[in-house]
Amino acid sequence: MTRLKLDKVVKRFGAVTAVDEVSIDIAAGEFVTLLGASGCGKTTLLRLVAGFAALDSGAIALEGQDVAGLPPACRNIGFVFQSYALFPHMTVAGNIGFALRLRRRPRAEIADRVAQLVAMVHLEGLEARYPHELSGGQQQRVALARALAPAPPLLLLDEPLSALDAKIRAALRAEIRAVVKRTGVTALYVTHDQDEALSMSDRIVVMDQGRFVQVGAPIELYARPANRFVANFLGTSNLLIGEAAGDGRLVIERHAVDLALPTALAGRKRVLVCVRPEHVSLEPVLGSVNGTPILTILDSAFLGQTVRVTGRLASGAPLAVDLPAERWQTLALAPGDRALWTIDPRHAILLPDAVDMAEEG
Ligand SMILES: Nc1ncnc2c1ncn2[C@@H]1O[C@H](COP(=O)(O)OP(=O)(O)O)[C@@H](O)[C@H]1O
Ligand SMILES: [Mg+2]
Repeated sequence: MTRLKLDKVVKRFGAVTAVDEVSIDIAAGEFVTLLGASGCGKTTLLRLVAGFAALDSGAIALEGQDVAGLPPACRNIGFVFQSYALFPHMTVAGNIGFALRLRRRPRAEIADRVAQLVAMVHLEGLEARYPHELSGGQQQRVALARALAPAPPLLLLDEPLSALDAKIRAALRAEIRAVVKRTGVTALYVTHDQDEALSMSDRIVVMDQGRFVQVGAPIELYARPANRFVANFLGTSNLLIGEAAGDGRLVIERHAVDLALPTALAGRKRVLVCVRPEHVSLEPVLGSVNGTPILTILDSAFLGQTVRVTGRLASGAPLAVDLPAERWQTLALAPGDRALWTIDPRHAILLPDAVDMAEEG
């Protein structure tokens, strides 16, 4: 069942089109993240949904009802912002119960609901504290509980973790997702942090200049980026040039790969290929290197289970390779050494973008 529907939504500020004809259907209980760089239109889109700004064209429907003309207070939408925006003169319990008091709910019902939410966001024992007596992470939990108190069908979160330090941020990611899933609220979450988006979302919308570039589950976007923008934005990508060999095979930096061009790319002489670092493997060089796909090792970084190896291909292009730490030890390579590199064609992603001069370098 669709809870939030955006249909060709447009918002302009003078010459800037902040939101450019975006459409999506978001299901009840779904956790959807808008991911994009600063200025790409994420906050503007949330503000349109909330009713703080008016559309130039298109439509927004909440639970099947067009919200045009409905003031923010009548949309029954919860918000969490980057700045906690708690009421400083109210306690934790006072903040969480605020919307319920406003709705004149019975005292006992408010107390029950507040207790339930305090437990859900793990703030037991802190009910009587004031915001200035809480850490940033605790304040953000209060903000989350306060937003959920009236049981809204939709929760909007605008970079709620970006003011917190890394460790608390990582812990709160999992908690926010758990709370969203437990309550069944639909969440529209905004971030510029790809790790946050990948770890929290059912679906991610990658935005650029007001447009939706690609929408999909985290693993889909990572495994099948639709274009170069998404490939670069999510995870580490090696972008290599493949040359059509005429026999249906593609030669990528001296490396002949069995990879037929899809019809959309048929006739191209050169195509852009994205290969993730974990899909490259290295072998020791035995004998002559003439004409073979060779990587010159530049550096390596130990990351725990894996080692991130950086090197340079014969063309001069850089290549990142992630190897299991044990494999890297067995290879016993040092900077300046050469290795044979191979990729699994199943994991070579052909991108529709044109190959530009810079990459031919
Ligand atoms: N009230 C406004 N007046 C004029 N321009 C605005 C206004 N709000 C946002 N913009 C512009 O719209 C674009 C998108 O901004 P915003 O939605 O805040 O991006 P994000 O949240 O992704 O960083 C930017 O170019 C920004 O400068
Ligand atoms: Mg913003």
